[in-house]
Amino acid sequence: MKKIKPLDSFDKKIQIPGDKSISHRAIILSSIAKGNSEIKNFVTSKDCMNTIECLRQSGVRIELDKNHIYVAGKGMKGLIPAKTTLYVGNSGTTIRLLSGLLSAQKFDSIIAGDESISKRPMDRIIHPLRLMGAKIWGQRDKYPPLKIKGSNLKGIDYISPVASAQVKSCILLAGLYANGTTVISEPFKSRDHTERMLEYLGADISVSENSVIIKGGNQLISRDINIPGDISSASFFIVAALTSKNSSLLIENVGINPTRTGIIDVLLNMGANIRILNKRIYNNEPVGDILVKSSHLKAVTIQKQTIPRVIDEIPILAVAASCAQGTTVIKDAQELKLKESDRINTISSELNKIGAKIQPKDDGMIIQGCRDFVASAQIDTHNDHRIAMAASIAGLNCKDGLTINNAECVDISFPGFFQLLEQLRL
Ligand code: S3P
Repeated sequence: MKKIKPLDSFDKKIQIPGDKSISHRAIILSSIAKGNSEIKNFVTSKDCMNTIECLRQSGVRIELDKNHIYVAGKGMKGLIPAKTTLYVGNSGTTIRLLSGLLSAQKFDSIIAGDESISKRPMDRIIHPLRLMGAKIWGQRDKYPPLKIKGSNLKGIDYISPVASAQVKSCILLAGLYANGTTVISEPFKSRDHTERMLEYLGADISVSENSVIIKGGNQLISRDINIPGDISSASFFIVAALTSKNSSLLIENVGINPTRTGIIDVLLNMGANIRILNKRIYNNEPVGDILVKSSHLKAVTIQKQTIPRVIDEIPILAVAASCAQGTTVIKDAQELKLKESDRINTISSELNKIGAKIQPKDDGMIIQGCRDFVASAQIDTHNDHRIAMAASIAGLNCKDGLTINNAECVDISFPGFFQLLEQLRL
């Protein structure tokens, strides 16, 4: 249980941990690349540690020194069967990406996760993988644990019904091993870290608009990777600065990949004072420093192609919208129901406890700005890290503070979140 006290103004410079999505990909791709690599600023969150464990069990030597990782890449054909079931914990990225990889191996695997993962749909990867010739089964053909019998795969031309980087990356990893060429198209562009890293490590890959083409059979070559700070983690602190009075915050070293900066675009549309400074590139990924100042926010509508670019930031956007003037509408976001918790319900039920006015809808929510949160309350995180962090930021604007139950779930993506929040008070 964590008590969050209200916070007045602050003027700080901080750094946030490495990007979770890029960290997963760095470990997975370095494990099947040829040669050794060093990964800097890896986020040692629970999700990413589960990816490391799964690959260690598959025979990869991975050493960890704080947030530095050393990977002895085994090459495309070097993985070995794990002795037991691979366990992904709460991590959707781990199970979906590794399923693509394991489908193409010469051995069989079983992959499972926690209670939340066991309820998340895997038919979205089972279906395309089977079209590639994979032998993969789930519970009721949909849910983990997944059983995979390694097979020779063939390239496909697949139009995904959902804009999902996990589906796209699963197919790209299978496509890396498949005979021939694989093409994957999606309705809107989802985060493209897999494509960028595959290209960086030498895959035969090309991207046009919402489609990606990969040729199978190319060996990846290990290279060092420097992981930028996670913009999804930064977004909690961005909204903290925007909604606190007379505050200024510089967040250094944050990934600003355009498939992830929907949060900045939406907040700018809401009238936020945000500037991106010192733009640079690390291993094919754009990086910058984000300067945020307190702002009077106004309502917006968020829909269509913006949704995949802010999908993980909707909980904290709900907090920003609650502090804004006017009524914010979020549409086309049915995917929120399939996250670590049903976020349409958990965001509205938990924030409404402290005086937010959020009406859940089938594909999003309607949020009436209330300026300040009033009541003190006990927040139930539903074991969802982003609900815990969004509620904590709301708590800074809550007259009597609030209490967060099961707050440790923040470690799923952001170890050190509460310590960093405390630093704003020092
Ligand atoms: C992720 C993709 C997104 C996102 C998740 C991380 C990734 O999921 O919500 O937190 O690393 O590929 P979907 O692909 O299911 O949209």
